[in-house]
Amino acid sequence: MGRCPICQAWNTLEEKGDKTDSPPVRPYSLSQLAEDDEERKPIEIAEFDRVMGGGLVSGSLVLLGGEPGVGKSTLLLQVAESYARIWGEALYVSAEESARQLRLRASRLGISSARLSVLNETKLDRIISCVESASPGLVVIDSIQAVSTDDVDSVPGSVTQTRACTYALMQLAKTHAITIVLVGHVNKQGALAGPKVLEHAVDVVLSFEGERHTAYRLLRAIKNRYGSTNELGVFHMGEGGLEEVTNPSALFLSERPEGAPGSVVVACMEGSRPLLVEIQALVGPTPYGGTPRRQTSGVDRHRAAIILAVLEKRAGMQLQSHDVYISVVGGLAVDEPAADLGIALAVASSFKGRHVEPRTIVFGEIGLAGELRRVRHTDRRLNEARKLGFQRCILPGGFSVRQSDTIDLLPVDRLTEALQAGLS
Ligand code: TYD
Ligand code: MG
Repeated sequence: MGRCPICQAWNTLEEKGDKTDSPPVRPYSLSQLAEDDEERKPIEIAEFDRVMGGGLVSGSLVLLGGEPGVGKSTLLLQVAESYARIWGEALYVSAEESARQLRLRASRLGISSARLSVLNETKLDRIISCVESASPGLVVIDSIQAVSTDDVDSVPGSVTQTRACTYALMQLAKTHAITIVLVGHVNKQGALAGPKVLEHAVDVVLSFEGERHTAYRLLRAIKNRYGSTNELGVFHMGEGGLEEVTNPSALFLSERPEGAPGSVVVACMEGSRPLLVEIQALVGPTPYGGTPRRQTSGVDRHRAAIILAVLEKRAGMQLQSHDVYISVVGGLAVDEPAADLGIALAVASSFKGRHVEPRTIVFGEIGLAGELRRVRHTDRRLNEARKLGFQRCILPGGFSVRQSDTIDLLPVDRLTEALQAGLS
């Protein structure tokens, strides 16, 4: 071709040599790859490290989402401070708040580390050049939606801007082997604002949640290339920032209405950690002529529908003419089959107006025939229950009962037996 089809200039095309000149591309043998080439840097905030899969990984891009006011900036300032104290230089880029606001928060948290620097900047190229000259090991960008680049011709916060900045920061993290954490806003539906592609581009997506009127906050990984997504981190927002909650079961059970019908404590697993949670149910007659209502929060609706059907068919409970509300206390969600028995017992307890003895804990999966099925980690669940002073446990049968246990174990094979054992 004499003329370039793109710029229309004449005689500017150059010959690049033929294919045989380029070195052949060879795959590695799997055994040649290093066992673990990721460097993990624990920052000694155990609730954070566990959710991350053991610590911050060099060369990774992390996205932290959460509603305004939940405590994202607070968490990341504390993370950056910890990192600076243990590992070296950290940079906190504040693209939304003024230096004054940042200073106020830092003094409230009692943070003044010489190795933690702060930058007030929204322009991507200036952020990148600052990172390249200061070479910190951790960079926090608060928030990605407030950062923009002149390379893209659209307003800050737009999908195109956010995507372009995220990809550039991904490059930066990989080439300099540093960790970059982005703060991402969520929209009213609770989804991360901006393109879904952001979640694909980053290595880890964290979500920071909490109910407005309570002080505790939950950190979970929605996606994690370096660890499991089952782990849950629990924090308490106090006067001096976020504190780790090392015994969340006690916290979640602290306001339990002991002896009230409809309240049952279940031993669940959140990743590798057992967690005791309270399930509540409220069952009452449906007003004449109405359709029975079924509402759940923290429990899967379809799972609840199956359990109600089993209660009707296998335990003879007439729930067809009743409204049923089920919720997990503390804004938690349980998605484990092990919670089945707790849900069933809470519903039966409220329906019959009989309470479950407050020092009793339950777990077990319910089958369609009304049978109780075994679940994993029986020992860990029982340990947690023992630690919190529970004295009785209703659980699926078929395991070897240890003598001289501080907990009375009541293994049962059928839902009807469990209801009998559970309701006083
Ligand atoms: P912030 O980290 O600014 O939230 P986000 O970045 O997610 O918008 O924190 C918001 C709230 O946390 C704010 O309403 C005040 C409260 N807070 C405390 O209760 N204690 C503290 O020590 C700090 C720093 C904040
Ligand atoms: Mg903030």
